[in-house]
Amino acid sequence: MSALQKQVTRGQDRHVLPKVPVPPLKQTLDNYLKCVQHLVKEEQFKKTKAIVEKFGAPGSVGEILQKKLLERKDKKANWVYDYWLEDMYLNNRLALPVNSNPAMVFPKQAFRDHKDALRFAACLICGVLEYKTLIDTRQLPLDVARGQLAGTPLCMAQYYRLFTSYRYPGLKTDTLKVDLNAASLVPEHMIVACKNQFFLLDIVANNKQLNEAEIFLQLEKIMKMSENAEERLPPFGILTSDGRTEWAQAREALIKDQANRDSLALIESCICVVCLDEPCGIPPSDTNRALMMLHGGGGERNGANRWYDKSMQFVVGMDGVCGVVCEHSPFEGIVMVECSEFLMKRITGSPFRTVQPSSTRALPPPRRLLWKCNSHVQALLEASGDRLQRLVNNLDMDVFTFETYGKEFIKKQKMSPDAFIQISLQLAFYKCRGRLVSTYESASLRRFQEGRVDNIRSATAEALAFVRSMTDERATFTDSEKMKRLKDAVKAQTDYTIAAITGMAIDNHLLGLLKVSKQLNMEKPEIFCDETYLASNHFTLSTSQVPTTVEMFCCYGPVVPNGYGTCYNPQPHHIVFSVASFWENTETSSAVFVKALNEGLLEIRDLCNRSATADTKPPESSPVAGQPRKSGK
Ligand code: COA
Repeated sequence: MSALQKQVTRGQDRHVLPKVPVPPLKQTLDNYLKCVQHLVKEEQFKKTKAIVEKFGAPGSVGEILQKKLLERKDKKANWVYDYWLEDMYLNNRLALPVNSNPAMVFPKQAFRDHKDALRFAACLICGVLEYKTLIDTRQLPLDVARGQLAGTPLCMAQYYRLFTSYRYPGLKTDTLKVDLNAASLVPEHMIVACKNQFFLLDIVANNKQLNEAEIFLQLEKIMKMSENAEERLPPFGILTSDGRTEWAQAREALIKDQANRDSLALIESCICVVCLDEPCGIPPSDTNRALMMLHGGGGERNGANRWYDKSMQFVVGMDGVCGVVCEHSPFEGIVMVECSEFLMKRITGSPFRTVQPSSTRALPPPRRLLWKCNSHVQALLEASGDRLQRLVNNLDMDVFTFETYGKEFIKKQKMSPDAFIQISLQLAFYKCRGRLVSTYESASLRRFQEGRVDNIRSATAEALAFVRSMTDERATFTDSEKMKRLKDAVKAQTDYTIAAITGMAIDNHLLGLLKVSKQLNMEKPEIFCDETYLASNHFTLSTSQVPTTVEMFCCYGPVVPNGYGTCYNPQPHHIVFSVASFWENTETSSAVFVKALNEGLLEIRDLCNRSATADTKPPESSPVAGQPRKSGK
């Protein structure tokens, strides 16, 4: 371990890593115009250009706001963090399932019976405790950037929020509470959900942590208790699946009662939720397992066997449908993957152990959380259930594994796999809709203190030129022209990626300028009222790369009603795409998008292969015709 790594691992990262920069104003405004020019009508663009120039003129409002942002940067570890958190998550009023919470889907597990499932759950819980100890004692190995600009240390702060965070619903805005000192104050506990009932699983008894066999026995007791129909309480978890304002209103009604306040306090302070799910009753295809993780199948299946505000929910289905559902505001998918991979490696590495009575203590059964219901709360439960069902019926999901090639083929073309895949997504969209739209790709800012993400706007002018050449029905473009456009598009995408991960993208900066104007009680600057700005923030295509080294994949829903949420996991020889859209929208169809994506990926491969063959073919007049030419240097 290098000296730098040691220093950062010991929790010194805030002092070692640089602060996220504030890009120069002119640079951001020029890039903004470049990003939107080809996506809006010419007349609209002219208007936007004039507004942007006025905003950025010497002595104008843009300069005042920029100065304030620079002052903010000096004062804070990360000038954009709070602004971004509110804008991206806390102010969003949409329900968490599908709209916000991503999920990791584990490979289908082959459980023979419920005991197998509970052994898996017990092993997973022990894994969580081990991982949490690594976090609490700052022993997690330091993450170091891979891919573009590899080798730089990354901020570890997101890990510290994995098991210490809770998102409280609010009437206007939510609150993310992160309790970094929780561990030392009270004995820790988890919440286990089973048949829509919630149980308190103390993980320490008589100052000693429960071992795996004891946890297994406690889970068995929970299952038994949940089967007792007489003691069964209404499915309170369903309230957390509702819109944030609706849930905040329901919570206000709940907390009038002491029993409810006590139950809420226990859930809000737990390490994580473990959901023991009933068999979902549908074939466990990748797509169906993704659906079950994202919304639980609604109230009739496991949709109420959840507590969506809690950052980490581990799902163990009795039918082997398993995964993790995350509340997204404390951390990014990459951290969720690291934790999930640790757990899966631990589970696959530990053979099933029969419980030795000698290794277990006689522990009291876990306590069922109590809820007080009245007719008002009953009506709220029903309304939340109806709204979740609508979301369930609306989600059009298609998990597609592209088997023909993966990262290795793309690297052989001397192209960035991520940029190549992004351009394939643009091609797929263009094939479906005949135009490009504002696109979001998450770019990590973890090279900086408290870094989260910014946006790579993948619908570049170069991508548009390329997809036009690939779809031109008059076949006016030669392969070498198409290849040139592909290379230009990959370069533009790669350049944008490098700008974004070094803190030079435009979205966070524009958001910062807007937020500062609000804080100064200024009239909203015209640039942010402009139709182009509003359209440019409507992300019809919302994408991100979430790679894994263990067999599993990530998925999430679209962020706008007429959009696609597309997560991809590039592997050496295949790529897993999870594509989500809404059935209620007539412009989108995940199956149609997937078909176009498959076609496009094959067409680009054929183009690369034809171009490579043409490159190695000697020119006809060549004196060495007939002999293969040496490639490379
Ligand atoms: N020729 C050959 N190989 C190339 C290449 C080229 N021109 N360009 C890149 N490569 C290689 C890289 O060296 C890397 O190699 P590795 O597999 O050995 O590490 C590999 O291809 C992947 O690089 P690339 O595809 O360019 O992308 P990346 O891994 O740098 O990822 C982002 C780019 C934007 C996805 C990444 O920087 C990022 O921000 N990730 C976080 C996203 C996120 O937060 N997701 C979760 C959201 S909830």
